[in-house]
Amino acid sequence: MANPVMNVISAGYDWVNQRAPGATAWWNRHVGQYYAPKNFNFWYYFGSLAMVVFANQILTGIWLTMHYKPDAKLAFDSVEYIMRDVDWGWLIRYLHSTGASLFFLVIYLHMFRGLMYGSYRKPRELIWVIGVVIFLATMAEAFMGYVLPWGQMSYWGAQVISSIYGTIPFVGPDLLEFIRGDYVIADPALNRFFALHVIAVPLVLAGLIYLHLMALHETGSNNPDGIEIKKKKDANGKPLDGITFHPYYTVKDLFGTAFFLLIASFIVFYAPTFGGWFLEPDNFLVADPMVTPLLIKPVWYFTPYYAMLRAVPAVFGSQFPGVLVMGGGVLIFFLLPWLDRSPVRSIRYRSMLSKVMLALWVLCFFWLGYCGTRHATPLLTLSAQVCTVFYFAFFLLMPWWSRLGATKPEPERVNFDH
Ligand code: HEM
Repeated sequence: MANPVMNVISAGYDWVNQRAPGATAWWNRHVGQYYAPKNFNFWYYFGSLAMVVFANQILTGIWLTMHYKPDAKLAFDSVEYIMRDVDWGWLIRYLHSTGASLFFLVIYLHMFRGLMYGSYRKPRELIWVIGVVIFLATMAEAFMGYVLPWGQMSYWGAQVISSIYGTIPFVGPDLLEFIRGDYVIADPALNRFFALHVIAVPLVLAGLIYLHLMALHETGSNNPDGIEIKKKKDANGKPLDGITFHPYYTVKDLFGTAFFLLIASFIVFYAPTFGGWFLEPDNFLVADPMVTPLLIKPVWYFTPYYAMLRAVPAVFGSQFPGVLVMGGGVLIFFLLPWLDRSPVRSIRYRSMLSKVMLALWVLCFFWLGYCGTRHATPLLTLSAQVCTVFYFAFFLLMPWWSRLGATKPEPERVNFDH
C-alpha cells in the first residue's frame, strides 16, 4: 500500500524537479553521486562538525541579538538580562559561548587531520588556502564577539589586541585611531565590532565555507592513506574505493554529530564556563577603564599566538617584531602546500623523522598555549621562545627535513577494515 507521506514527498519532489531540474543535478553532483573514499576515520568527522557549530553560532547569535544592546552603557546589563530574565536566555548564551570554544576545538582538529594526512598537498592546495582564510576570519569573529559583553576582559583584551595595530611603523597610531574610532576602546569600537560580528564576518564565513566545499568537490577528498581513489575506477567510471556520500557519510556524520552534541550538552548544562577556560571570571565584571585586571589574557584558542607575541623582546622599544612573529605564526599556514616535499602524503607512510617533527610541533603548540595563560616569568618566556623558534623551524625547514628518512611504500588500494 502506498504510503501517503511518501506520496506527498514524491509529488513535491516532482513539482520542484520540473521547475528546477538543476536542483537534482546539484544534489547528485554534491551528495547523492558524490564519491568519497571508503576509509574515512575519526578525523573526518570534524569538517561536518565545523558546519554544525557554525550553524549553532548563527542561530543562537540571531536570538542573542534580539535582546543584546550594542552600547557601552547598556551592553553588560543586557547580557545579564539575557542570563537572568529572558526565557531560556541563559541557554542561548551558553550555547553561543560554548560554541565559540568548540568551533576552535573542531577547527584545530580539522587542521591537524590535514597535517597528518597531507590533505593540503597537490591538487588540494586551494581547499587548504581557503581553509586558512576561514581560520583567519574565525579568529576575527571570535575576537570581536568577545568584546560585546563589555566585561573586564572584553575591554582590556580589546585594548591590548587593538594596540597591536599601533605598533606598525609610521602609520600605526593613525591606523589605531581609525580602527577604534576613538583614542581608546569605547562605544564606537563596540558598535563597529557588533556590526562586523553579526553581519559582515558571518556573511564572509558562509561564502568561504561554500567555496571550501566546492573546491573540495572539484578534487574529491583525500583519505588516511593519502592515495588518490580516482586512479582506480570500475567499468562505470566510479572509483573502486569510493562510496556515495549519501547515505554512507550522511549517516556517519549524523552519528558523529549526535555524539558531539552529547558532549556539548554536558558542557553547556554542567560546566558552561569550563572552569574559566570558555568564559573567564573577569568577564563577569563590568568593563572598568580605571581598573586593569591582574592578568590580561585571551581565551585559550588564542593563547599559543599570544605567547609568541610576548616571547619576542621589544626592539628599540617597539613591540612590532612580536606582532610580526604572531601574525606570521598564522600566515605561515598558507605556505604549507609548497613547503612539504615528502615523497608520500600520509603520516602512515612517512619517515620516523616526519612523525617526530609533527609530534614535537604539536607539543610546542600546546606549551605555547599554556604559556599564554600565565604570567610571563623568565623561565616561561625562555621556553616560549624555544617553542616559537621550533614552531617556525618546522615550517621553514620543511623543504629539507620532509625529504629525509625512509618512507614506507604506499598501498595500491586504500586500507579498509569493517
Ligand atoms: C568553518 C570552518 C570549516 C568548515 C565548515 C569546514 C568544512 C569542511 C568539510 C565539510 C570538509 C569535508 C569533510 C572532511 O574532510 O572533514 C572539509 C575538508 C577539508 N578542509 Fe575544511 N572546514 C573548515 C575549516 C578549515 C580550515 C581552517 C582548514 C585549514 C586551514 C581546512 C582544510 C580542509 C582540507 C585540507 C580539507 C580536505 C581534507 C581531506 O580531503 O583530507 N578546513 N572541510
